[in-house]
Amino acid sequence: MKIIHLSDTHIGRDDNERRTQALLADIATLREKSGHVVVHTGDLINAGHPEEMRTGRAVLDTLATQGWRILLAPGNHDYGDSLHVDPDWASAFRGQFARYIFGDQPAQFPVLTLTEDCAFIGLDSNEAEMGFWERWMAEGYLGTAQIRRLNAVLDQAEVRARTVVLYLHHHPFFDAPVVRADVGDHGYLGHLFGWNTRRFRRLKDAYSLMQCARDRVDVLLFGHQHFGLDYSAEGQRYGIRTALDASSSTATQMDTDRMRYRVIDTVAGTVTTRFVAFP
Ligand SMILES: [Fe+2]
Ligand SMILES: [Fe+2]
Repeated sequence: MKIIHLSDTHIGRDDNERRTQALLADIATLREKSGHVVVHTGDLINAGHPEEMRTGRAVLDTLATQGWRILLAPGNHDYGDSLHVDPDWASAFRGQFARYIFGDQPAQFPVLTLTEDCAFIGLDSNEAEMGFWERWMAEGYLGTAQIRRLNAVLDQAEVRARTVVLYLHHHPFFDAPVVRADVGDHGYLGHLFGWNTRRFRRLKDAYSLMQCARDRVDVLLFGHQHFGLDYSAEGQRYGIRTALDASSSTATQMDTDRMRYRVIDTVAGTVTTRFVAFP
């Protein structure tokens, strides 16, 4: 199985619709569609407005028409904007994109999709973050109920017999390397703020998630922070072979970057990056 990992296209912001179309044109040049799954780890659109939803839906429909199988995990911008997630917008998004979020499964997370050799498990990392107080200290919040259900899914024999691919929007790892990707080369105050507040701006129940996933997941895919880094070294501490942050595939807010997406071969264990020129 090969996975095309897209994320954070933020359609509706700047010229991201055109950029996404350029990504699609590149994906269309790939062959052997039947062996691929396209996983989009959220922030498909920039704000949960009906017009952006229509555009985002048209984009995924184009991919589906070309024969790609698509799995979508919702991001915070799909349910609202950078400041809040809205329960009404969330249910509108879930309804409009049900085909890609849930497929033919019940409309509940985790979503389990079985292929011949892989078990794809999709999470909604906004699910417990809908209320005012729940959002405090949170950049994503799965909630106890969703993690409990994930625990049960990971115990299923048909899942255990396959390569397990877990995908969600928010970033599960606390990021503290010397070169700080969320601060870049900005000034002293930025470093001070980033360093001292990052631990409070994280997937609120990341620890519970990783304890649940430990030694039971093979590939972990996410987006949200637009860093685009390979977190496999961090994942391997939890027995997870491959852990990847897709970055923003449309290079949102990063015009010095390149548009890119990864192709992950779960059989060969390889990860390749395809670069796409700005339109
Ligand atoms: Fe994003
Ligand atoms: Fe996000």
